[in-house]
Amino acid sequence: MTVTELSKTDRRSGAHTADLTIVGGAGHVGIPLVLSFAAKGLTVNVNDLNRTNLAALKSGRLPFIEYGAEDLLSAALRDHKLIFTNTPDAISKTGPIIVTIGTPVDEFLNPERHVVLNCLDSLLPYVSDGQLLVLRSTLYPGTTDVIATHLKRQKRDLKVAFCPERIVQGYGIEELSRMPQIISGTTPEAVREATDLFRIIAPEIVELSPIEAEFAKLFGNAYRYIEFAATNQFYLIAQAAGVDYQRILSAMKHNYPRAKNIPKPGYAAGPCLMKDTMQLSAFARNEFSLGNAAMLINEGLPLHVIGDLRRRYDLGKMTVGLLGMAFKSEIDDVRASLSYKFKKVLNGLAREVLTTDPFVTIDPDLLPLDEVVARSDILILCTPHLGYKSADLKGKPVVDVWGLLENANVIS
Ligand SMILES: NC(=O)c1ccc[n+]([C@@H]2O[C@H](COP(=O)([O-])OP(=O)(O)OC[C@H]3O[C@@H](n4cnc5c(N)ncnc54)[C@H](O)[C@@H]3O)[C@@H](O)[C@H]2O)c1
Repeated sequence: MTVTELSKTDRRSGAHTADLTIVGGAGHVGIPLVLSFAAKGLTVNVNDLNRTNLAALKSGRLPFIEYGAEDLLSAALRDHKLIFTNTPDAISKTGPIIVTIGTPVDEFLNPERHVVLNCLDSLLPYVSDGQLLVLRSTLYPGTTDVIATHLKRQKRDLKVAFCPERIVQGYGIEELSRMPQIISGTTPEAVREATDLFRIIAPEIVELSPIEAEFAKLFGNAYRYIEFAATNQFYLIAQAAGVDYQRILSAMKHNYPRAKNIPKPGYAAGPCLMKDTMQLSAFARNEFSLGNAAMLINEGLPLHVIGDLRRRYDLGKMTVGLLGMAFKSEIDDVRASLSYKFKKVLNGLAREVLTTDPFVTIDPDLLPLDEVVARSDILILCTPHLGYKSADLKGKPVVDVWGLLENANVIS
């Protein structure tokens, strides 16, 4: 399907009069949001540059794993609640516009602030004054106010709100209906309209000012990233002392409420946690010492594991098998997955590196688990997919930082 075809079709099908437009609606944050609003009866204009994902949705397929979404997508298509568009001129001129596009950091780990501004500039000729504009991407502190000022300078009168997304990837449908929604706006009208909008899908509303809401989102992600770093550092300390951290952790948590939230060690990765910790660090003039330390620990864990293997084995004569390439368990998303850091580093050290994943569909190098196990001399459990828990790893030595595997020959 070409861009023009999609645009024309969708203009005919009423894109300009949808109840709600979601720009970035075919992305990881966009899809659960689109489907949650559609399930409440709203007609949603799913506006996205990614034509492949739009075509998948249109045909009733999810472009990636989103638990609980399939039935909602079928129902929304059946009830004609979705309109698919892929150009800025096809956004609806009435009704709120929610923007859920990616907000990356650059090669200096500083936020690419122009991404959201460029997107808004592309939309501006096609929106009407008075429309509610909800920013939902994770934003560098101060961005919402910068955008409101930018719009005023251009004499545009949009109501600007920032309502951050806080779902955990893959489980957005369930979480959106269960979690409080933080709302903020640059005017009381923006707050009121954003509140009315999110009351449709959220059980509770919590109001903050825009900069407070921006911090709330970033602090939440950075805190999680620091928690993973703390447990990863404990793991490394215990390992250096030759003791089993999993045994210690399980004893610490046993009927002891103050330790119950300590996470298991593991490769903390994905498109948000490090990126958002670095946004906060950039805001704090790189003086976010805990955040920077967390990055060194979490990003360094694969290097520790590889260093340990190099001390024990002659890797140059060995084949290493990597189990799991998604950035976390039970999903298919490889963005910023540390499995690929393993692959990259080991490619320069081992005789051969083989990879497998039961969920990932976009990596042509992946092999079936059995083949990876059979051909490898050593295995590394990179992603704790539950299927690996009791898999037959044929007694091959395996590194399991996560403490997931049962009956395996775990290298300690
Ligand atoms: N992935 C998560 O679980 C999660 C959770 C909370 C918050 N966030 C934040 O939400 C934002 C989006 O993350 P994501 O994981 O959904 O990213 P994503 O890349 O999966 O989705 C973004 C979508 O926006 C589309 N897009 C980009 N520019 C566009 C434009 N100008 N017009 C129309 N569409 C455009 C892309 O094609 C893509 O489909 C980021 O700020 C992220 O930090 C993500």
